[in-house]
Amino acid sequence: MQFRTVHVEASRSYDILIGRGILAGLGGFIRPLLGNCRLAVITDSNVDALYGNAIMEHLSAAGYKACKYVIPAGEASKCADNLLAFLNFMAGEQLTRSDAVIAFGGGVVGDLGGLSASLYLRGVKYVQVPTTLLAAVDSSVGGKTAIDIPAGKNLVGSFYQPSLVCCDTALMDTLPKDIYRDGCAEVIKYGMILDAELYKTLHTLPFDREEVVARCVEIKRDVVQQDEFDNGIRGLLNFGHTFGHAIEKLSNFAVSHGEAVAKGMVIAARIAPLCGLCDVADELSALLAQYGFDITCPYSANEVYDALLTDKKRRGGKISVVLPRSVGDCTLVTLPVEEVGVLLSKVIV
Ligand SMILES: NC(=O)c1ccc[n+]([C@@H]2O[C@H](COP(=O)([O-])OP(=O)(O)OC[C@H]3O[C@@H](n4cnc5c(N)ncnc54)[C@H](O)[C@@H]3O)[C@@H](O)[C@H]2O)c1
Repeated sequence: MQFRTVHVEASRSYDILIGRGILAGLGGFIRPLLGNCRLAVITDSNVDALYGNAIMEHLSAAGYKACKYVIPAGEASKCADNLLAFLNFMAGEQLTRSDAVIAFGGGVVGDLGGLSASLYLRGVKYVQVPTTLLAAVDSSVGGKTAIDIPAGKNLVGSFYQPSLVCCDTALMDTLPKDIYRDGCAEVIKYGMILDAELYKTLHTLPFDREEVVARCVEIKRDVVQQDEFDNGIRGLLNFGHTFGHAIEKLSNFAVSHGEAVAKGMVIAARIAPLCGLCDVADELSALLAQYGFDITCPYSANEVYDALLTDKKRRGGKISVVLPRSVGDCTLVTLPVEEVGVLLSKVIV
């Protein structure tokens, strides 16, 4: 079985394994880390229908006793009701401190599974097995876990690093095109913020999935190692997200996350030259168009500004935005919110 390994040094250190077909080896990978424990696999209805039997069989063949908990697919499942229900399920299964959670799915399952693991018996170990491109390059790495509450997305969560990330890139073969593309927006983001070489390779489609996932994960690893708890440089990963979240929210989440991030990255790139930085907006727009993203902003500058005012990353009267200095090099700039409003009115017309 061939795979690449990316090692993360954080409050808990762990490996990220990336390769085609490596789900079959999951039991063997976790044994040195978890020993002979019991496992609670949390997954969603789509992933369960496609791969639920396979993961349970692989774990059983490796000698593991595992139980499975399935949530309905979709963001609405990342909620307090499901968190409690899964905690109750684990308690009903009499899982102990030495047992572990396997989060098998996209970012929704990863975030909910990770938060559950951080809370159950004050913390049990967990393993991320991402099945979407977004989860592979982003949410499964770095230890942020969360659920949504009525007041907003991701408002309740913890920093809780997994013991292992096992990324079988073959699982992504069954992703609907739009979901795969959402992940591509994050991949392009990594190229823009920190890796011009990666950015260049993304012009040739289809890209080498294993290589690109590994590179993105290395970039995220490097950032997380410097700022695990998101007090500084980790903010770079928000390139396109500050404006993207505003657009997502305005659309009542009808605009997908990836599409919103694509629009947000273009807005940020258009703002950059107005702040004395370089202009890569046309270049970035062309690459995003190659992936089929609609990069127009369907809202007025005022609407985006109003949505920004409720951003949880806003501190007092200031907001941090990530702006490109060049392809492969972005910087965090903290600006008074009113100034961001003026800049938006110049780039969204
Ligand atoms: N923790 C973090 O650092 C972090 C970072 C970014 C995003 N997130 C969170 O991640 C979530 C979005 O993640 P996502 O885009 O993976 O969404 P998701 O988990 O909802 O998955 C998207 C869809 O793809 C389906 N799916 C998953 N794997 C599949 C497969 N292999 N084949 C076919 N269908 C499959 C799912 O059932 C779902 O319908 C959001 O809740 C976001 O807040 C977290």
